[in-house]
Amino acid sequence: MTIARDRRQAKTRDRRQANPSSPAPKKKLPPPIRSIYVYEVPVRLWHWINAAAVLILCLTGYFIGSPVPTLSGEASDHYMFGYLRFIHFSAGYILAIGFLGRLYWAFVGNNHAMEIFYIPIFSKFFWREMMSMIKWYAFIRKFPNRYVGHNPVARISMFLGYVVTGVFMMITGFTLYGEGAQAGHWSHEVFTQWVIPIFGQSQDVHTFHHLGMWIMYVLLFCTYTLLSVKTLWADRACSARLSTATVCLKVSQSMSTLTILFLDIAI
Ligand code: HEM
Repeated sequence: MTIARDRRQAKTRDRRQANPSSPAPKKKLPPPIRSIYVYEVPVRLWHWINAAAVLILCLTGYFIGSPVPTLSGEASDHYMFGYLRFIHFSAGYILAIGFLGRLYWAFVGNNHAMEIFYIPIFSKFFWREMMSMIKWYAFIRKFPNRYVGHNPVARISMFLGYVVTGVFMMITGFTLYGEGAQAGHWSHEVFTQWVIPIFGQSQDVHTFHHLGMWIMYVLLFCTYTLLSVKTLWADRACSARLSTATVCLKVSQSMSTLTILFLDIAI
């Protein structure tokens, strides 16, 4: 592991400082690793609550959009669709309340708490670092640069995939919810009455809300793939042993899953 290597080098350096007569190392040593507190407790809590809510929303949303065949017997004996929708709406509320809490924490938390809410589009440094990370994820560079908090690619994905798409899903979700709850309900007053006219009709809101789910699925999948590539590639010893076959397998896995996802959308 890179961290283990750094620790070893830091140890050698400490030993050398304690005993200056020991032979000088051949290479210049990197600075020792220092702990930095990045993700505070509320951010971690939100992360896992949000992850669970998104997963539940994606699964229940899928079956709302593509219901399973009718079960035999009285519908009231099963109430399956009712439970499904109830779980979807409850997770929707949890997502929205969590998001508001996270937004609050972006202002009162540490520097990193604000990271996912904006992209420094005017910073040349940011785009240069983003290119270098893309090269690493594409197996063009051998080692990544180091970042405290999210790297630039992760930051863009979090911003577009979770913040922008998440807000879109909450707005369209509460618009549909308000339509069912009807005039007088807060969601109807706050969202339904202006969002449906923008889309033209309720069915279009359904379609875009549905499409948002697939964007989230693709994003979850990419996050997972990039994380596994990162885990495999970050280890210098492992990268030396990583065979071309393993890399091809990983890339073909990613390509096939993406193809299935897009075919699903098309169908
Ligand atoms: C990650 C976020 C979400 C995902 C992935 C998601 C997914 C879905 C999907 C796929 C559908 C079926 C659309 C169709 O084909 O007609 C749906 C329906 C719906 N969703 Fe969501 N949703 C999310 C967030 C929300 C939120 C925050 C709410 C707010 C309460 C919400 C409320 C609804 C409502 C009211 C429906 C229509 C139910 C029906 O027609 O029976 N959703 N959702």
